[in-house]
Amino acid sequence: MNNKYIGVFDSGIGGLTVVKSIMKILPKENIIYFGDTLNSPYGDKKEEQIIELVKQDAKFLAQFDLKAIVIACNTADAIGKDTIMNMYDMPVFGVVDPASKYACSISKNKKIGVIATKAAINSKAYDEAIKRIDEEVELYSNACPLLVPLVEQGKFTDDCLETKQILEGYLKPLLEKDIDSLILGCTHYPLLENMVRQIAPNINIISSSDVAAKKLKEDLEKMNMMSDELIERKFYVSSDSNNFARLANIFIKDFDYKINLI
Ligand code: DGL
Repeated sequence: MNNKYIGVFDSGIGGLTVVKSIMKILPKENIIYFGDTLNSPYGDKKEEQIIELVKQDAKFLAQFDLKAIVIACNTADAIGKDTIMNMYDMPVFGVVDPASKYACSISKNKKIGVIATKAAINSKAYDEAIKRIDEEVELYSNACPLLVPLVEQGKFTDDCLETKQILEGYLKPLLEKDIDSLILGCTHYPLLENMVRQIAPNINIISSSDVAAKKLKEDLEKMNMMSDELIERKFYVSSDSNNFARLANIFIKDFDYKINLI
């Protein structure tokens, strides 16, 4: 049972940041990844559409022998987690709850910021998660629709002044509220972490990918569900596997897995 797959899905490429974090701390886990590159990005879509896509994503994964599902995409998790939990009788992990919990645990002044896609911010999933954890926390959020395309164009290195300027603009209203912690609530934003640190050197930066992987590890341990043997990791996409392979090398250095087209 424990060597069964963890099924990870995302709207496309970004979920590889979550896979990278999982591989780092759970090196023996067998993983099936599905990136819905055909319908990416989800962050600009309507909720009803996202729910339908999320159902299809999970259905694709469910044909494999799974022990758990990880929703790597913040947008998909924010909008579709309940749907997936109701569909399958296995643990479903997301990114919004662990990031919110961790942010609440390290914020001293109880002022937290979150940046994410338009759909994730509009869903209010982060607001609700934070309120469930600590009613006193004030959450300030900003949708950042320009960041995903910039990251996918590889424009996230320190010398990309255009990206830095745009990011500064997105962070300004949150920093003006005196936040002491910022959730990077999107699969793509861990690649911008250095830039965020330069703009806001004195705040805690929480990568939803890292904390989600940590939560997965803790829960697998608790449930006695850790794998003891790495057999395989498989990657599937719904379109353009060549572009996925190119981007995968940006998201995970030396990514040399075969990519299967469904
Ligand atoms: N994976 C998405 C997220 O984390 C970003 C890309 C998209 O909009 O689909 O919200």
